[in-house]
Amino acid sequence: MPDLTSKINVTFDFAGRQLRRLIETYPDYLPMYTVNGKWKHGGESWTNWCEGFLGGQLWLMYQHTGESYWREKAEHYSRLIAHRKDDRDVHDLGFLFWSTWKRWYDMTGDPAVNDVVVHAGRTLSLRFKEKGQYLRSFVSDESLFIDIMMNVGIIFYAAQHTDDAAMLRKATQHCQTTRKYLVRGDGSTSHEGIFDTETGAFLRQSTHQGWRADSSWARGLAWALYGFGTAYSFTHDARLLQTAEACANFYIERTPAPGVPPNDWDEPDPARPYESSAAAIAASGLLDLAKLTGNPARARLYRDYALRILDTLTGPEFLAIETPGWEGILKHGMYHERKGLGVDESVMWGEHFFLEALSKV
Ligand code: GLY
Repeated sequence: MPDLTSKINVTFDFAGRQLRRLIETYPDYLPMYTVNGKWKHGGESWTNWCEGFLGGQLWLMYQHTGESYWREKAEHYSRLIAHRKDDRDVHDLGFLFWSTWKRWYDMTGDPAVNDVVVHAGRTLSLRFKEKGQYLRSFVSDESLFIDIMMNVGIIFYAAQHTDDAAMLRKATQHCQTTRKYLVRGDGSTSHEGIFDTETGAFLRQSTHQGWRADSSWARGLAWALYGFGTAYSFTHDARLLQTAEACANFYIERTPAPGVPPNDWDEPDPARPYESSAAAIAASGLLDLAKLTGNPARARLYRDYALRILDTLTGPEFLAIETPGWEGILKHGMYHERKGLGVDESVMWGEHFFLEALSKV
């Protein structure tokens, strides 16, 4: 795909300019979403889960260019979040440390850097609820989020590095509980599960960022597609691969031809047609899944579909390159529509997984 290759190079050049401007204009600022295309504003964050995605992009820029400027900034922005390895308030330590310190370790093999990754994984495992067998969300003890599937990988990693069977059990059980209660027969996913904290019984499906409790929030499904694939790569449990593929098939069947879903597939006549961050996450997850599935036809399908998404996202409707004054890279992302946060804007995780997917290509 020679055209996509040149679009990828244009996108990385553009991303480099946008990122350099961001970190030089607002040093040490860790944004989450833009407002009218601007990163600096006083909008609320709801929860603090995005602080690794800027550092993650800086590592990807270093990987792509080999320039010491990016390496130095990537280390700096990783150090800025080191204290979060002890954060017991969020379920997002995978997002924070896999994007930053894990990439740092992969590039250097420095055991002190790896210790931070393992430490963060151990902290995250402390969220496990024996009653219900899941890692609780940031919201409350009774709440399980589909998003946690993107974070549980760091617990598998920490458990395998330290040979900790108890930690491994927590990660494994979390995946099985999520698979049982949040993934439906058609491969769609629910955002949240609510449990009885006394008995551990599952009570109902629910949502915060989707349309309805029984609908299909696109980003949640993209987290599941990617996260179950990652969990399979640690465990080789065929059930997890099967679940990742069910989610992938749902995404492919239900999304319009260019590959970008709305915020929720089931919402009738959504006010905005796109949730580009879900597409970026799905593209990155599908590229992994193409390597994980043992089926050559499905491998081709997943890779071709991921390339189609990336061809769309590097085009003029989504890439902000032709939008003067826009500070992000990828337009038409969505954070929390009901709360009015980051609606039709650039979002930090969208930028991160977009660059990650392009770097995999
Ligand atoms: N809280 C994670 C998300 O918005 O996808």
